[in-house]
Amino acid sequence: MARWIILTLLWHLLSMLSAADEFAEALEHCGERDEVFNTSLLQLGTTLARTPTNPCGYLLIDTCSNLSLGCSNACATHSHGSDCYRPVEDVMAEHPGEDGYCYFNSVAFYVKYGGPTPDFEAEAASGITYLRHGEYKGLNTGPLLTYHFEGEVIASHMDSMHYSYDDIYAYSLGFLQGQGIDSWRMKNATDWISLSEEKCKTIQQRYNFSKAELVLSDWLDFNQVIATMACCSAGISCATDENNRRLSGFQSVSQCRPVTRRDFAKHHYMKCLLGYRNSAADMAYLHSRACLLAGHRIGHFSDCPYVPPVDF
Ligand SMILES: *[C@@H]1O[C@H](CO)[C@@H](O)[C@H](O)[C@H]1NC(C)=O
Ligand SMILES: *[C@@H]1O[C@H](CO)[C@@H](O)[C@H](O)[C@H]1NC(C)=O
Ligand SMILES: *[C@@H]1O[C@H](CO)[C@@H](O)[C@H](O)[C@H]1NC(C)=O
Ligand SMILES: *[C@@H]1O[C@H](CO)[C@@H](O)[C@H](O)[C@H]1NC(C)=O
Repeated sequence: MARWIILTLLWHLLSMLSAADEFAEALEHCGERDEVFNTSLLQLGTTLARTPTNPCGYLLIDTCSNLSLGCSNACATHSHGSDCYRPVEDVMAEHPGEDGYCYFNSVAFYVKYGGPTPDFEAEAASGITYLRHGEYKGLNTGPLLTYHFEGEVIASHMDSMHYSYDDIYAYSLGFLQGQGIDSWRMKNATDWISLSEEKCKTIQQRYNFSKAELVLSDWLDFNQVIATMACCSAGISCATDENNRRLSGFQSVSQCRPVTRRDFAKHHYMKCLLGYRNSAADMAYLHSRACLLAGHRIGHFSDCPYVPPVDF
């Protein structure tokens, strides 16, 4: 269970494993023991990266470099690992035209290059389905959580563990259906990417993140901290270990640090810097799965105007 909580909470980072057979391969090992699962996730990336024609970054060794964070930071064993510790803006400036998810491919199991020709609706649907593994029981079957977020009160069913992150993350960024984005624009990848670019620029105008704040390794490590703070906002505990408790200021569900708009904006903005194709994929995923309803409620799937091609 702990394994799955970590994996699912991280997923919102999106970057869906792009090909369906990769999912199949990962899931195939999933019913076996944890170590098989951990290894198989990394092997996916490595196998992908080691083909002679693949221009992307890859893992130097085939093991999980940081188990304590759910294999979520492989900077120490990545072909471009030394660039994990520098401002990502500087790194990308040295590689004009390259996709950051390609450059840092497999640096975490969820950072995967999705290819040059995105189908955002399909990628979003894959991500939604993948994340449900094992625990999704159906629409509105999970507990109704109440988030206290930046002075607002918002309710949403947590039908799967990662909902406690993704619902409020999407709301915070204004990416839910009902917050002003035209869902049809997802069908035109070029258009959707340019919308994402606009959103990214708006974020940076508002928050003015410094270069030093946007370092890939820090971003990878902070993700689980955000997950724990999002749970805090909903009055539930997702603290995974002592390190996570310390970093997220978690003492108990009533004494913990709630997540902020700035935390979420920074999280998304790193994807912008790694390429608008990647922030656009994040936006598509967040937009497809949920909507803002009357009465400060967040709904999913058939609660919403746009319904992605998944069962629910
Ligand atoms: C793994 O992550 C923990 C927590 O951030 C850190 O203290 C440790 O140095 C990391 N280990 C490696 C090998 O990167
Ligand atoms: C697999 O990963 C999970 C969490 O990421 C961890 O709890 C488990 O101990 C790992 N298994 C092995 C054998 O390392
Ligand atoms: C897709 O969007 C781009 C940019 O907005 C536009 O130039 C192009 O004509 C659109 N393509 C289609 C097929 O609508
Ligand atoms: C943004 O931050 C930089 C430092 O990172 C600072 O020099 C600049 O004045 C800031 N701009 C605004 C509009 O706040």
